[in-house]
Amino acid sequence: MNYYTYYEEEEEDVEEEEEMEETEEESEEGEEAEAELEAEEEAEEKQKSTVKQVQKSTAVTRVKEVKIVRVPFGIDKLDEALEGGIPKGSWVVVGGEPGTGKSIMAIHFAWKGLELGDKVIYVTTEQEFYDVIIQAKQFGMDFDEYNVFNLAEAIQWDRADREWTFEKPSKTPDIVVIDLFGLSRVARFALQEQLSSEKSKTTKTKKTYVPWSIDTLVFALDKAYELLEVEKGQHVRLIIDSMSTFWVDKPAMARRYSYQLKLAYHRSNITAFLTSQYAMTTKSMFGFGVEHIADVVMETWMSDIKTTKKLERYLAIKKARMTHIKHYLFRIDFKKEGNISKLILEPI
Ligand SMILES: Nc1ncnc2c1ncn2[C@@H]1O[C@H](COP(=O)(O)OP(=O)(O)OP(=O)(O)O)[C@@H](O)[C@H]1O
Ligand SMILES: [Mg+2]
Repeated sequence: MNYYTYYEEEEEDVEEEEEMEETEEESEEGEEAEAELEAEEEAEEKQKSTVKQVQKSTAVTRVKEVKIVRVPFGIDKLDEALEGGIPKGSWVVVGGEPGTGKSIMAIHFAWKGLELGDKVIYVTTEQEFYDVIIQAKQFGMDFDEYNVFNLAEAIQWDRADREWTFEKPSKTPDIVVIDLFGLSRVARFALQEQLSSEKSKTTKTKKTYVPWSIDTLVFALDKAYELLEVEKGQHVRLIIDSMSTFWVDKPAMARRYSYQLKLAYHRSNITAFLTSQYAMTTKSMFGFGVEHIADVVMETWMSDIKTTKKLERYLAIKKARMTHIKHYLFRIDFKKEGNISKLILEPI
């Protein structure tokens, strides 16, 4: 598999279209060929079932012989504006003011992925995943229907042996959760592994394993990639809400940390959704740099409520590589239908 390509060859679909052009005269031979094709398809399907699932379930844009596989957000008007979604393998950064809907967008992105058979890694630094589940339920999405594996809960202190242990799940989870409170436990486990490793005793480059450090995140992501067998081609949606946490005490490091993360974790089968907070003082992204590693950048903001006396939220698509942006400015709204809340993006 190529690392970091946004497209996959889709010979099958081309063949299917050619078949449709065939006339009825090409009867038996055509049928035999079709049967052969079907058999080949079936065999291939067995080998690459997960990859094919993603290809089938997402929109595609044709570029000569290759098609860009599009990964939808599950937010109607936004997907429409982006030719069906963002290219598979790309990284999206949504930055903006508090309360503008970034986390709710992240929830939609995760949910749509699960519906399409993708796996999800959900890093939540602002609220426990339990709160994410409650918020999602208000929007009619029940994450409890899926096999959720909280990485930190699998790390336990063994009293007898006086050490941290990590218990792998018995079957591959649908969602691997790395959450705020869990990160401190992940940090302690990572530190223990470092101390017990022979290599670390001889090398000078020790990692910094404190709960909010980028090293702890990297350690947790390594475990998550391993659990979800990312290297075997499984399409995974990686959500980090929010990145700003990792440079909370050193915003000047934002750019470096972002590059470090992308270099280590981008893959053609990883599509990432990262959020970034605004510094209310400057009304710009807190820490400079994360938007430069992104293939797609969106910004959310509120109108000046003191002037307008209305709560108006907006979203702009500022950059989207390999995509013709149909609409780039939206009004964000929350509507309630019965008990279910709905996030609505209306192009303006
Ligand atoms: N159940 C709900 N029904 C309707 N609207 C809701 C509901 N839950 C949240 N909201 C709206 O969504 C907003 C919060 O959105 P969200 O948590 O995604 O913001 P955010 O951009 O992630 O903010 P922050 O930067 O503080 O994390 C709330 O301010 C509220 O107006
Ligand atoms: Mg949020």
